[in-house]
Amino acid sequence: MATVDPKYITVSDDVLYIGVDDLKIDLFEGQYAAPEGMSYNSYLILDEKVCIMDTTDPNTKDEWEQNLITALNGRTPDYLVVLHCEPDHAACVSWALEKWPQCQVICSAKAAQFLPQFSDFDYTGRIQAVKEGEKLSLGKHELEFFMTPMVHWPEVMMAYESYDKILFTADAFGKFGALCHETDDWACEARRYYFNICGKYGAQVQAALKKTAKFDVKIIAPLHGPVLRENLMYYGKLYDTWSKYEPETKGVFIAHCSLHGNTAQAAQLLKDELAALGEKVAISDLCRDDMAEAVEDAFRYDRIVLAAPTYDSGIMPAMDDFLHHLKSKAWQRRSVALMENGTWAPQSARLMRNQLAEFKDITVLDQQVTIKSSVKAETREAIKALAKALTH
Ligand code: FEO
Repeated sequence: MATVDPKYITVSDDVLYIGVDDLKIDLFEGQYAAPEGMSYNSYLILDEKVCIMDTTDPNTKDEWEQNLITALNGRTPDYLVVLHCEPDHAACVSWALEKWPQCQVICSAKAAQFLPQFSDFDYTGRIQAVKEGEKLSLGKHELEFFMTPMVHWPEVMMAYESYDKILFTADAFGKFGALCHETDDWACEARRYYFNICGKYGAQVQAALKKTAKFDVKIIAPLHGPVLRENLMYYGKLYDTWSKYEPETKGVFIAHCSLHGNTAQAAQLLKDELAALGEKVAISDLCRDDMAEAVEDAFRYDRIVLAAPTYDSGIMPAMDDFLHHLKSKAWQRRSVALMENGTWAPQSARLMRNQLAEFKDITVLDQQVTIKSSVKAETREAIKALAKALTH
């Protein structure tokens, strides 16, 4: 575990950060690389009533408990708001309820249903389920709750605190990375987080954004990543773009896989041709690079090239897997070009085209490149032609 930069500790005079940086994590949700760690954010509002906002992940339980007890400074929590009951935020709810028998959970009706599924704790009489627009007065601080289902689970709600104008956004506006490793480049790991965690739920994120529009927000307090205080329009605009499935960056993303390096060579040649034409290009080796980052780039750019050999009369598995990821995240509204390879019966382009026909609003260029084993003079010509087609 790590010490958090003091600038994140005090959200406002009465709202304290009590979350934890996890630097030991290898995979978030058991699948996403977290090389810079992860923060599990939790907050404490000290007013006439004392309110905890979410807890933490099981792996950081001891440090969170210590943070909470220190921040309480002898006071007793009256409420524990659970905006999201996924275990990375709700693992310590039952511990807090056991420790403070008068403490009540405030959550959505769905969360009231889900919470008991995660432990043997008896929640009878310990949960107050709130409805859309319901308010909770803590003294001068008042929380207004509103439901934001599927951002990122069905039970999720957000809360607006009207005194300091804090929007508690659950997973929304979160990112990969521990706070002690935070840099100025918020978007890079926020984008990878968004598309892999919430990418499928663009319509629900749009609905949530519309609900937040009525609030005068000065601070965004998410459950991962830094508390956001400045230039909030920037973050809101990115979330609007991402959740509408609009490309963020004009450019081409080349995703490739290769058995013996020939398809990779062709992909690299295409990258060079596109760069020479003035295009911004990103490239990823699906067998070696981070799949979650490839998914992120597929959403980020307006055009994508899929380059894969034929394998066992099908598509090389890394590309098959990538397409599966894109389908499951509702990837849509993009233009695609295809490159295939095969020594005796190249057919991966046809098979990729068939799969893409099942996606929403994907345009596949007629022009494609077929490599017969290795890059020849005619392949180079076809790559040049494809680069030109992609720039029109
Ligand atoms: Fe950060 Fe959906 O949990």
